[in-house]
Amino acid sequence: MADTGDNVNLSRARICIDFGTALSKASICLDPTLPLEVGVKPLSIGAVSRAQHGLLTPSVLFVDAGRIFFGPLALEYAQRGAAQGRDPLLSFKTVLGAKDANVILAQKMRPSVDPTGTLTYRDALVLYLAYLDQLIREAISVTAGMPPGASEVRRRYTSPAWRMGSGPDPVFEAIFNEAAAISQRLGRLFLSTEGISIAQCKDALDKARQLPGNGRLETGVFEPHAAAAASMAFSTSPTNFVLVFDIGAGTTDVAAFEFDERSNPPALSEIKEARQCSGLAGDEIDRILIELYFRKRGGDQSQTEEQRVLRMFKLNARELKQQLFAHGKIILRTGWNTTTIKLSDLTEDPQFVEYKSALGRIIAASLAPVVHRAETVGAQVIDVVLAGGGSHLPFLPDLVRNAAGHSPRSVPLRVSPLSPTSKLYEGVDPSLGGAFPQIAMSVGGALVEMMPA
Ligand SMILES: Nc1ncnc2c1ncn2[C@@H]1O[C@H](COP(=O)(O)OP(=O)(O)OP(=O)(O)O)[C@@H](O)[C@H]1O
Ligand SMILES: [Mg+2]
Repeated sequence: MADTGDNVNLSRARICIDFGTALSKASICLDPTLPLEVGVKPLSIGAVSRAQHGLLTPSVLFVDAGRIFFGPLALEYAQRGAAQGRDPLLSFKTVLGAKDANVILAQKMRPSVDPTGTLTYRDALVLYLAYLDQLIREAISVTAGMPPGASEVRRRYTSPAWRMGSGPDPVFEAIFNEAAAISQRLGRLFLSTEGISIAQCKDALDKARQLPGNGRLETGVFEPHAAAAASMAFSTSPTNFVLVFDIGAGTTDVAAFEFDERSNPPALSEIKEARQCSGLAGDEIDRILIELYFRKRGGDQSQTEEQRVLRMFKLNARELKQQLFAHGKIILRTGWNTTTIKLSDLTEDPQFVEYKSALGRIIAASLAPVVHRAETVGAQVIDVVLAGGGSHLPFLPDLVRNAAGHSPRSVPLRVSPLSPTSKLYEGVDPSLGGAFPQIAMSVGGALVEMMPA
């Protein structure tokens, strides 16, 4: 079967959306039996939304002057709105991961996010997914080799909760169906720089509730399972044991898998004792950094100007943290105030020291059952795969090795960030390889065959 052209059979195709706390990603798998280079592609939704990175688009929504903005534009407006005490909606992930999602979804958004008091979290989620659908459609239309109909294939989403093997979740199925109707109704308006009026959004939301579309939702995929699938698919020297440590913005997910190639197709089974989900992720470092900045800066945080500075710093904290780790220092100027933060200020901060030890304890607790199982079957090596944006944190590999507290006679660990060994990304942009630990969940989620419940 050809990989391009009009006669491609898309019956096995699916798109996987990784709706991250900080960044959304999406990949398409045309057919899991095709070679990786033609079978699976990350979609350049960040290029379509004009974000910093071609494959990553910020998961943000902002309400301004009766209009709703999404993605990078929302961030831009939020920077301007900081002076008026306005916040963007930065994290939907808490909603997706919540035990009782329905209760949170039904709540109205905070007035600092939606001063019109119109939208519930569910409305925001539906609108954001409709926006994402438009980004995906546009990205597919500009990706070489995409067969006609590729935008209409089934959809999956990665989930921090365990929902595999059970088919689509009815709550999210309804949300995807309404988002599909809104995406169709408002179409490319989502891609305009003008934003969309709240009245138009509200009207589209009401109509979508009465007459939902077809969101084609197939299933949720457990995030670490998706990461492990990507790791195994792209590895040139696969092992039988993989511990995935996905440190994102909102959550750190840990899970371990045993790969058994004696069965056909080879089976990926989970070592359930290793599974953990923790809030100790990138945003927690940002929080510590924000506190550190305000301690160093001094000033009265109850003052209006200080509130504005705080809002601005919060909006830029991810970027500032990345600069601090990359360059060892950041210098912040606001009016007459200049504050310098050195990397050692952060790494010696008692809260950060405790953060690192807590992460170390999490790693140790997950490693123990994997090492035990690997020793039992006489495995040669355990892969510890670092995924998510936090995999760039320079202290992480040593933290894993130290947490293992390994006896020299035990099974050796191979610790490394998830990386593609194929040429998958070269055609897009050579610099995109560095984003692999972040896009791997959508790639793996699109590729993976579902694990039995
Ligand atoms: N070079 C870097 N150094 C340090 N942190 C980084 C770097 N690059 C990205 N990050 C951090 O990684 C996080 C984003 O990673 P990722 O895209 O995996 O998160 P997410 O999928 O949106 O979040 P989650 O999975 O928790 O919902 C942010 O906290 C960001 O600041
Ligand atoms: Mg993530």
